[in-house]
Amino acid sequence: MIITIVGGGSTFTAGIVKSIALRREELEVTEIRLFDIDKERQDKVAVLVDWILHEDLKCDIKLVATTDEETAYKDASFVFAQMRVGKYAMREQDEKISLRHGCVGQETCGCGGMAYGMRTIFPMVKVIDDAEKYAKPDYWILNYSNPASIVAEACRVLRPNARIINICDMPIAIIDVVAAAMNIKDKKQIVYDYFGLNHFGWFTSIQYQGKDMMPALRQYIKEHQILLPDAYLKDKAALGVAPQKESGTEGNRHTRGSWYYVWKGEYEIMENFPEMLPNTYLNYYLQQKEFVEHSDPNHTRANEVMETREKNLFDGIDKYLATGEIDEKVFYAGSHGDWIADLAIALKNDTKARFLVITENRGCLPNMPYDAMVEVPAYIGKDGPEVITQKPIPLFQQGLMMQQLNCEKLLVQGCIEGSYEKVLQAFTLNKTVPSMKVAKEVLDDMIVANKGYWPELH
Ligand code: NAD
Ligand code: G6P
Ligand code: MN
Repeated sequence: MIITIVGGGSTFTAGIVKSIALRREELEVTEIRLFDIDKERQDKVAVLVDWILHEDLKCDIKLVATTDEETAYKDASFVFAQMRVGKYAMREQDEKISLRHGCVGQETCGCGGMAYGMRTIFPMVKVIDDAEKYAKPDYWILNYSNPASIVAEACRVLRPNARIINICDMPIAIIDVVAAAMNIKDKKQIVYDYFGLNHFGWFTSIQYQGKDMMPALRQYIKEHQILLPDAYLKDKAALGVAPQKESGTEGNRHTRGSWYYVWKGEYEIMENFPEMLPNTYLNYYLQQKEFVEHSDPNHTRANEVMETREKNLFDGIDKYLATGEIDEKVFYAGSHGDWIADLAIALKNDTKARFLVITENRGCLPNMPYDAMVEVPAYIGKDGPEVITQKPIPLFQQGLMMQQLNCEKLLVQGCIEGSYEKVLQAFTLNKTVPSMKVAKEVLDDMIVANKGYWPELH
């Protein structure tokens, strides 16, 4: 059983491989292949992956790192995709260009997310075509590549029969934080209901051993004026300041810099709308003005990530090559890798386990369009997600979702047709953009910055 990881040079590869290897019996995995277009970056990550598989866990899974599509995909059963088209350099542009125009500069939200989406649509279609050509006929692509919402819509339109499931780890990360805040030891016993678009959704219930946790959670958030566990909040001086260049702070990184504001925002949103727990990414849409005000246009999340997650990883690999010593804190192993590996187990072994996935609505949310790509709970078996039908969603959330959905659909159409007007409509419709004039100014700068990545618009 072969698993191919596309974006082998990613900062998340090592963690994902560890999760796969820890589940090697259920997955019956015999070979892991890394595929990337950046050989040098991937080869470094492969050093760490080799250590995890063959030194740390001492398993006999074969490892291949390649930049050749046929070698990568041949007879693969699963393709885990996690590419960042344009890498951090372009993410930095996305965030900074937006902020220069007074708009939210964020990886997947607002103008930054739309720019990233337009870079990723066609490379993602290529992943599907390569899988169709070389992989096993019943392959599954499990896709983390962002912006997952736009990618999901583009794949639905361009490759409707592809065996792809788009996923996100943010709701899981939120559940991890909720569990820590509520002192819940066994996260597996938490059951939640959720609806939305990707990075644009709400938890409607969170239960632990059958008990409704929402009242206690509301109380906790109100008291702490933030949604983060006590353990993270001890170092008061660090709250909200730029992240430090130290290793092993993936959790605490969220108390620093731009992440702090979105966890703080959970409190701010819940003060006004206490019924549901919002996804952290809703902060960029509901507090867009405030986000721009506390952002540093010369030092954005892309810089924070390059100075911490990326630097720690590659410094750690260099140190290993020089000294033979590995500090496991240089890579993150946890929910992110566990989520995708567990999803593969559910598909392979037809377990019907419950997962949150991004999938075509088909009536699940009755007052959203049939063909909307929504993020909802589903039971996962060998034929894919069986979605659980929900009640109609309230007008506030539905209105926000329709605006975002139509924005993403226009962007995808504009990208496919090469239509400047449709892409400008998408930028104008996005809730983070204050006016048509600003939308046009950002778009025109983005076109210049994305030359070679975006389709030509006319
Ligand atoms: P990274 O830059 O460290 O790694 C991405 C890798 O993708 C790079 O090695 C790059 O060379 C490679 N790549 C770029 N274009 C490619 C292409 N066309 N084909 C193959 N490989 C290509 O980025 P990262 O921070 O580790 O994140 C990786 C991806 O995972 C990003 O898209 C990120 O947004 C996404 N992500 C998603 C979730 C989620 O919830 N869906 C969670 C975490 C990360
Ligand atoms: C969460 C989201 C991902 C996103 C990641 C970015 O995990 O679910 O979609 O890519 O955060 O984190 P960063 O620190 O790179 O902004
Ligand atoms: Mn996500």
